Amino acid sequence: ADCTKCGLCQNRKKTVFGVGDEKAKWLFVGEGPGRNEDMQGEPFVGPAGKLLDSMLAAMGLRRGGNAYIANIVKCRPTGADGRDRPPMPEEVAACMPYLDRQIALIQPAIIVALGKTAALSLLKLDPDTPVSKLRGSIHHYASLPLVVTYHPAYLLRSPADKRKTWADLCLAMNTYAGHSP
Ligand code: URA
Repeated sequence: ADCTKCGLCQNRKKTVFGVGDEKAKWLFVGEGPGRNEDMQGEPFVGPAGKLLDSMLAAMGLRRGGNAYIANIVKCRPTGADGRDRPPMPEEVAACMPYLDRQIALIQPAIIVALGKTAALSLLKLDPDTPVSKLRGSIHHYASLPLVVTYHPAYLLRSPADKRKTWADLCLAMNTYAGHSP
């Protein structure tokens, strides 16, 4: 909470570290806090969070029950206009050691990357890689399987892609269960 490694510390109300079972087998990683999260200090508490909770429920999981939810950056990124924006590469680089340490401590069995920022940051890929190219196969963070799907905020804007997200979550569940997809 007293981190000053990047400029995001200047406007934050609260750091948003993560929420859930610290021994969870499932780790869900988003991009960064928005307005609601910045005020409450908890990830995914706004409208996108409601959708994430429904996704978890459909998988037989829940916040705090075998699932941990974190973000790539722990403080809310906003533009000069005060609106949410994706974190910049230097902000991701400054914050990534916290997430690396969280993953080392939690020791999840599988990671679900929610959207482009999470996928590209965890997999250290070129910023031009589209999420659509990363879906449908198992990636790895260290030796952990990692599945990429759409960010819930994107799904609120493009509900037709919820079907594809369910396929991604089924791929993740099959992988977790030890079946080859
Ligand atoms: N979007 C994210 O990526 N993370 C949050 O915590 C909230 C919205």
